[in-house]
Amino acid sequence: MEIRAVGVVGLGTMGAGIAEVFARAGLRVTAVEADPDALSRGMAILDGSLGRAVSRGKLTKDEYAQIVGRVRPGPTMASLAGADLVIEVVPEQLAIKRQILAELDQIGRPDTIIATNTSSLSVTAIAAASARPGRVVGMHFFNPAPMMRLVEVVTTVLTEPAAGQAVTELARRLGKTPVQVTDRAGFVANALLLPYLNHAVRLFETGYATRDDIDLAVTTGIGLPMGPLALLDLIGIDTSLSILEVLDREFGGTRYTPAPLLRRLTDAGRVGRKSGAGLYDYSGTAPASGFPIADDTAPDNADQPPAPGTVTLIDPVAAADGTASGAGAGSAGPHWGRSAELASLIAAAGINVTRNPAQPSDLVIVAIGTEGGVIGPATAAGRTAESVGLHLAGPNLAEIVATPVTSAGALAAARALIARLGLRAVRSADRPGLLVGALLYPHLRDAVAMVDHGYATSADVDMAMTLGCGYPRGPIRLLADAGVGTAVEVLRAMHAGYGDPAFAPSPLMTQYAQGGLSPFGHGE
Ligand code: 3HC
Repeated sequence: MEIRAVGVVGLGTMGAGIAEVFARAGLRVTAVEADPDALSRGMAILDGSLGRAVSRGKLTKDEYAQIVGRVRPGPTMASLAGADLVIEVVPEQLAIKRQILAELDQIGRPDTIIATNTSSLSVTAIAAASARPGRVVGMHFFNPAPMMRLVEVVTTVLTEPAAGQAVTELARRLGKTPVQVTDRAGFVANALLLPYLNHAVRLFETGYATRDDIDLAVTTGIGLPMGPLALLDLIGIDTSLSILEVLDREFGGTRYTPAPLLRRLTDAGRVGRKSGAGLYDYSGTAPASGFPIADDTAPDNADQPPAPGTVTLIDPVAAADGTASGAGAGSAGPHWGRSAELASLIAAAGINVTRNPAQPSDLVIVAIGTEGGVIGPATAAGRTAESVGLHLAGPNLAEIVATPVTSAGALAAARALIARLGLRAVRSADRPGLLVGALLYPHLRDAVAMVDHGYATSADVDMAMTLGCGYPRGPIRLLADAGVGTAVEVLRAMHAGYGDPAFAPSPLMTQYAQGGLSPFGHGE
């Protein structure tokens, strides 16, 4: 059956985006909302998105008019009688979704395909509410729906193959890339994305790092299009909370147990962009944040002290190896010391470098690796209060780590130094993984575990995260590029440091590391 006319039930942010995608592809769309105000708001979202495309020169006014003309706001479910496919995009509550399916039984033709955009609920449990469960398929879009190219097509044990095939073909006609998955909580993308976002909230609410530093670590240190806290605001804090609750019920464990701050923000109605404020404020009148830690990130152009004239550089790896000068140590091999690279960067910026702790200097830099550990070398140098740990996390980002007694002056001098080197700075707690590694490696571990559990292939995982979440490289590719050995070492240190099994490298990951294998080593 060729799908020409579609219905969209629920015109919130996602529903309006999905209606736009259908209409842009030439399909006739009936958009239904029980509440007339919500219907008007949804139509306004759709109109605003198309209007933005016109103002950016991506659509002509004629095209705009044709697309808008294909969308008919329908006041009641009865307006969906002639649809070839109806997709429900109502809130993530099983009872509401099941009610919609039961109503559709009374209205649609026997061959109408019923799609659900559920982001985590069981498609099987939703389908079971229908008299024709074989026609029910998950069709999971990503926010913003007009932009993100992935559609997860979720089939259940009840789905008729023809229905799954029809939805897959429709996704292709919409210009999307379908990935076929079976019915498991969070499917591929949300099952990987949400625990990583949850972990970022935990790091924030426990004072591990500031909000802005967490987001900067991810955009600048890893290269993802959005930081995790900004992304939570885009998805919706309430939506994220409910997805995590479903994941927690299905899989259990600390990665999925929602961070308390998500619940507090939801209780407060501060649920992200759609409410004008979430982890960030979008009203333009930033109120008192009430967040657990103040953001001490110095803006790039803030008044800063001058960069230090002389820096003492301590290389813990070289010291452990007994290398006299430490020059060149740690820039290669499995360890993380980077003093040679740091020394040349600092010298190239016209700053004197000494490696003798007894010689006076303006700042002591301990060249730590992802494992952290600034206090020991700083104390051994006899200059604890003047010491700051520094780790280069990629070509543009430096992670700064203080000891418990590092002076404010030393921290300011370290920020000034990093600015002079032309890098961005984030401050991290002194814990295994620092900030970038603590966010990244458990996420990569989850991705390999998903492959290990046979739910998705490495290629599917990477496609889901690149096309669904805009990653420039998927997690398996990121792992291959970072080196499985490094990832395993960091994860082991995190596991030992926190005692949380969620950080233990997955068995497959350990095997890759032991065998020196690439995570793409299965002919994929
Ligand atoms: N709606 C429609 N289009 C939008 C949009 C929105 N809310 N926000 C941005 N866009 C469009 C712009 O119009 C622009 O289109 P153009 O290239 O045709 O002119 C394009 O996106 C780029 O916009 P900007 O230049 O303003 O912004 P960015 O370059 O920063 O891109 C982004 C914005 C596409 C949102 C990018 O930051 C991104 O890919 N972020 C990751 C988003 C993500 O991870 N989504 C998945 C979340 S998980 C999910 O949805 C599943 C659910 O179940 C929870």
